[in-house]
Amino acid sequence: MTIHYQHHGSVVVVTIDNPPVNAMNHAVRQELVDAAARLDTDPSVTAIVLAGAGSVFVGGADITEFDRPVEEPSLPAVITAIETARKPWVAAVQGVALGGGLELILGCHYRLAGPQAHFALPEVGLGIIPGAGGTQRLPRLVGIEAAIGVVAESQTLNAHRAVQLGLVERVVSSNLLAEAIAFAESAATKPLPLTAANRSLATVDSAFWQAAETRIGAKSKGTAAPLLALAALRFGAEHGFAQGITLERATFLRLRATEESAALRYLFFAERAAPRPADLKGIVPRPITTTAVIGGGTMGAGIAAALRNAGLPVVLVERDAESLARGVKTLANIFDAATRKGNLTPEAAAARMAGVVPAVGYADLAVCDLVIEAVFEDITTKRAVFAELAQVCRTDAILATNTSYLNPSEIAAGLPNPARFIGLHFFSPAHVMKLLEIVPIPETAPEVLAASFDLARRLGKVPVRSGICDGFIGNRILRRYRGEAEAMLRGGVSFVQIDAAMRELGYAMGPFEMQDLAGLDISYMMREAARALGENVPETPGDILVRAGRKGQKTGGGWYDYHLGDRKPQPSAETARLIAPLLGPAVEMQAVQITTRLIAAMAVEGQAILSEGVARSAADIDLVEVYGYGFPRRLGGPMFLHGRPPTKKIPKLE
Ligand code: 3HC
Ligand code: NAI
Repeated sequence: MTIHYQHHGSVVVVTIDNPPVNAMNHAVRQELVDAAARLDTDPSVTAIVLAGAGSVFVGGADITEFDRPVEEPSLPAVITAIETARKPWVAAVQGVALGGGLELILGCHYRLAGPQAHFALPEVGLGIIPGAGGTQRLPRLVGIEAAIGVVAESQTLNAHRAVQLGLVERVVSSNLLAEAIAFAESAATKPLPLTAANRSLATVDSAFWQAAETRIGAKSKGTAAPLLALAALRFGAEHGFAQGITLERATFLRLRATEESAALRYLFFAERAAPRPADLKGIVPRPITTTAVIGGGTMGAGIAAALRNAGLPVVLVERDAESLARGVKTLANIFDAATRKGNLTPEAAAARMAGVVPAVGYADLAVCDLVIEAVFEDITTKRAVFAELAQVCRTDAILATNTSYLNPSEIAAGLPNPARFIGLHFFSPAHVMKLLEIVPIPETAPEVLAASFDLARRLGKVPVRSGICDGFIGNRILRRYRGEAEAMLRGGVSFVQIDAAMRELGYAMGPFEMQDLAGLDISYMMREAARALGENVPETPGDILVRAGRKGQKTGGGWYDYHLGDRKPQPSAETARLIAPLLGPAVEMQAVQITTRLIAAMAVEGQAILSEGVARSAADIDLVEVYGYGFPRRLGGPMFLHGRPPTKKIPKLE
């Protein structure tokens, strides 16, 4: 049974109890419809309180059912059964009411909330719109403007805001259930109130809708659902509840069957699986309360900011006073920028900086639980740092490297207690990018690995475990992606066309623009180093550009030209002339052919990574691409896309 009944005099408390989040699967829906019918005809019952067991009220419809046809009774049928009951239903919301959970209480006659209650319709994030009245009943309770925020812009309402807007009657600070029972007893003595479906809606003019459309369209990153949610809201406002709810349901069912929604649901479950690897179940993470970062450059400062944002104190170590001052300034600039954007108060920014101990030398590190090294990408420098750390740090302190390409095992070679060593590969900017690649060496202790996953959770990062290989998961695929783009270029496809195709797909920039942003010189130096070791590395167009002083945006030109202070790429006659000798005759290629080929290259590399055991799952690889490399969420990831039938691979935008 997923529903429990408790009788309190003539009031029955109906509790949805379907752990972990009381999702409304078929069993819950069936039992609720049965309950509504039975209680309505039971003469001993005068009112019903609807509650959720545990800390979540109802987390929505059961998303795992979305791959199958809807099984009756549908959620709209459940809600209609409650809404049309002859006895009052009072929702007592103690935790979050999301998606179908919010829609369920919109069908109740009254709503009370505990102080922890929150209300949201996260459907558009899953590529769908609310499918059980959310776009129709909510505006009739809270007004169109607030409803647009919740329905189409994923805003969450806390309990107090919900009262202000008229969504709930009142917040009950303690003993919600007892209050709800008393409320229900009293409600039973009065006529039923007007249901949400029967309430009128103030009209708004077309300019209002237009403005909302422009705002939401600009934010929706090519996904179809937010604008369709708005359209359903507008249609219901202009044509009435009955027509509105029909359109809403039809749109919901149509979107539920799209590849876009399948991709977003796949990511929803991938994101939840990633932080909890099965082999770490029951392993207690080694505690981390004090931290240090070695190196205050681009990455070190960003990592220190991420640690401070999570409330962890940080010792920031640099090699000399001048570098230290620069590192501290970089860190302060991060918090200043957050203050300017209104994301942090000046006091909070000052508190973040007050939790940083700047240091030259290692004396302050004896107390640290975790030290993250982010010095130059040079094995000798890194090994020297860890040799010093081994002298000063506690033997159980976790020692981590942020290396991008070096082998963490080689960095750790010869260190005492290698069980505490691990790779923690952050992405730039480290306080913003959500991905954290966790790279254990063979000796890493399980509680150190568990501590790294726990740290990711505290930093709000998506953790993905990677085995050791050149570039780990992400940079290895990046190399393959760039290689394929370059092969196309050499084959006569214009790099401008390649960039445009990837942007059209949903990337913020194409592979060549990305190189201009990051700088062409780093990979050039890596190729030169390999050549110096006698490796056969053929000349690339990038080599020619770097030798001509075109290292990217920082030198005013790379693949493209850049006007001073402007990041917009401009076509470059000089680049065309410089690279012409390496290119074949010009070839026209359609955008879809370009994107299919590049994604296939990523997926092939991903397959190799999987079969070598470097990644634990295809979903982990897709999380790396989405959270570290800007792969469009609506497409799920290269591994997801590659496994789909050819007709479905690149979903058309609606
Ligand atoms: N359906 C199926 N499973 C769900 C689920 C749902 N709606 N919501 C959560 N789960 C599962 C998770 O996959 C996870 O499973 P696992 O333990 O096997 O990995 C487990 O429940 C716990 O989830 P979280 O780890 O996310 O738990 P938290 O306590 O951190 O968060 C939550 C709880 C806030 C409810 C969060 O799970 C959440 O945001 N859930 C999804 C909410 C959502 O998108 N609802 C809308 C659904 S669509 C809908 O309702 C359509 C309607 O309009 C018709
Ligand atoms: P950076 O050159 O900006 O910073 C390195 C810092 O380390 C400098 O400030 C330098 O003074 C300091 N340093 C050097 N030797 C030191 C020592 N012995 N003790 C203390 N400080 C010392 O380099 P960046 O970009 O921050 O990279 C650092 C590490 O992070 C490298 O291993 C790099 O591969 C990795 N990484 C870089 C990414 C990026 O996008 N820049 C992304 C992910 C990882």
